[in-house]
Amino acid sequence: MAERELTVAIVGATGAVGSEVLRTLEERVFPVGEIRLFASARSAGERVEWGAGALRVEDLEDATFDGVEVAFFCAGGAVSAEYGPRAADAGAIVIDKSSHFRMHPDVPLVVPEVNADDLAERHLGIVASPNCTTIPIVVALKPIADAVGLERIVAASYQAVSGGGKRGIDALSRETIDLLNMRSPGGDERGSVFPRRIAFNCIPQVDAFLEDGSTKEEAKVVAETRRVLHLESLPIAVTCVRVPTFYGHTVALTVELAQPLDAADARRILREAPGVILCEMGDEMPYPTAADVGGTDAVYVGRVRNDPSHPRGLQLWVAADNVRKGAALNAVQIAEILARDL
Ligand SMILES: NC(=O)c1ccc[n+]([C@@H]2O[C@H](COP(=O)([O-])OP(=O)(O)OC[C@H]3O[C@@H](n4cnc5c(N)ncnc54)[C@H](OP(=O)(O)O)[C@@H]3O)[C@@H](O)[C@H]2O)c1
Repeated sequence: MAERELTVAIVGATGAVGSEVLRTLEERVFPVGEIRLFASARSAGERVEWGAGALRVEDLEDATFDGVEVAFFCAGGAVSAEYGPRAADAGAIVIDKSSHFRMHPDVPLVVPEVNADDLAERHLGIVASPNCTTIPIVVALKPIADAVGLERIVAASYQAVSGGGKRGIDALSRETIDLLNMRSPGGDERGSVFPRRIAFNCIPQVDAFLEDGSTKEEAKVVAETRRVLHLESLPIAVTCVRVPTFYGHTVALTVELAQPLDAADARRILREAPGVILCEMGDEMPYPTAADVGGTDAVYVGRVRNDPSHPRGLQLWVAADNVRKGAALNAVQIAEILARDL
């Protein structure tokens, strides 16, 4: 970690991820000297608690990044595209939570437990953090891939509404209250956040559809998983489902391995894996659920078993807080590594 205190900016500081970045910096005692918070004109002027005092949110449109050393971008792809390079040009290291730069060849895409070495690559002053479903998948599968190799991944994700930001959280709250009060659930003034009602429902669509019938979210998980694991041609099939939980993404994984691996050996590997908490039958938490992982830092893995339909198959259930390890914590961990050289 840097020996001196750094000037830090959070763009999108009033959102689900940005506010968690602020909390995570404080909890992990990141060496923050000055901190600047940016959002749109909608929230400019709001005050946000920080330490014993409060910080004023600035309008990003009026932003200059002079003196900023580390800038977390948590305001969506369009904002990152426009303001990320400006912050980098002003000398900041940009850690981007949006998908905008994730596949850019000169922007490392990093999960510290998996490919921290990629931070040593040439980059444009911008480092990307993967999608909140990709992160738990790669943290859980990296040690298995290193031990016996991966030949194919089949995944189904069950994604919390906070993955859709603060409007997603509001939508589930509002729709649930409406339905319990025998009212029909309405959208907010900016239209519906999800393509169908989310309260008491599961929606097999996260983000927009692509021409091949998959969704953008599914395509992101496939491309990013390959990139972070350095397995560029790994066959991966994913179905992403939005479910009516507030925090915590869960993923059912079926993997085909290059060599057979007994489930007991897989559990032994996972017990030692960085960033992983293994849940086993007989434990207080025999398997993780979304409700268990909200507000926690680890990637939880449970239900580890051999796939009876394939001689080299393994099945796992993975869960992590999408806003924390899936977003804010991963970004702060990247900053902690980069800060050593500042
Ligand atoms: N939520 C997750 O689980 C998750 C996980 C991984 C990655 N991400 C990514 O992280 C980013 C933020 O997501 P989120 O869930 O935190 O969204 P969110 O709750 O909707 O928050 C968005 C933030 O961006 C700000 N913002 C929006 N448009 C802006 C503009 N034109 N100029 C300046 N600020 C603007 C908002 O400010 P106002 O208050 O002024 O509207 C708010 O602070 C997205 O790229 C998302 O894909 C999210």
